[in-house]
Amino acid sequence: MSGIEGKVVVITGASSGIGAATATWLAEKGARLVLGARRKDRLNAVVEQITAQGGSAVGTVIDVTRREDLKRLTDTAVDRYGRLDVLVSNAGTMAVSPFDELRQDDWDAMVATHITGLLNGIGAALPIFRRQRSGQFVNVASTAAYVVKSPMGVYAATKTAVKVLTEGLRQESGPDLRVTLVSPGFTDTEGVGKGGSPETAVALSRQRDEIAIPPTAIASAIGYAIEQPAAIDINEIVVRPTVQA
Ligand SMILES: NC(=O)c1ccc[n+]([C@@H]2O[C@H](COP(=O)([O-])OP(=O)(O)OC[C@H]3O[C@@H](n4cnc5c(N)ncnc54)[C@H](OP(=O)(O)O)[C@@H]3O)[C@@H](O)[C@H]2O)c1
Repeated sequence: MSGIEGKVVVITGASSGIGAATATWLAEKGARLVLGARRKDRLNAVVEQITAQGGSAVGTVIDVTRREDLKRLTDTAVDRYGRLDVLVSNAGTMAVSPFDELRQDDWDAMVATHITGLLNGIGAALPIFRRQRSGQFVNVASTAAYVVKSPMGVYAATKTAVKVLTEGLRQESGPDLRVTLVSPGFTDTEGVGKGGSPETAVALSRQRDEIAIPPTAIASAIGYAIEQPAAIDINEIVVRPTVQA
């Protein structure tokens, strides 16, 4: 199976930003979507927008830190559409802050969302992909997985873990499965600095407003990896603003 038309794609973190843009992008190309996030109203708005434009999408309220929620999300794809072709693990939190502020709940949330959340997705989708003898993991990391900048130490560590887990999974994936890492740089979404220390949030938001690329830039990169023929596995894509150091 190549192309995007007809593929069943599950996206976590689809209620805003990159996840919502990716859902819209793929729906326009004929993908059938199962979208997950915690905010029901925002998730429903994305589903309604896609279906109003003739696309096919269903929303499921999930928290990626809960193993059973990811199972429910991937089961929804199989129950509704009969298969699962792609899992986009995109849910994330950019609540960054200097270590001295000891915002340990934010540290925990980044570890739980990016590392446990990704593993929960792998645990839910891998048995389905093995049974089908096809499937693709698309994991969203960050340029912070390549360059560590203060005060993003915890965020960068968890996104580096996403990169490492993705390569480990790729090595074990065998001839039937594809594994893709997509690492965005500054992207124009509401999530930049959200929930982090106020000073950091202001600084990051300012930088975002000056240099960020639109979330469609990441959506199209994800679409590029998905639309390749089954024998072609795009393993790593980094997309950053040209001016980003
Ligand atoms: N924007 C950037 O500059 C940038 C750069 C590099 C990497 N990224 C990465 O791109 C991904 C998307 O971020 P974004 O920029 O699009 O920000 P965003 O608009 O805040 O999107 C984050 C998404 O993740 C969801 N989410 C967060 N925690 C969740 C949880 N525990 N369970 C389920 N869903 C959860 C949020 O939905 P709910 O709150 O409704 O659950 C939301 O849909 C993240 O992994 C982020 O780290 C972003």
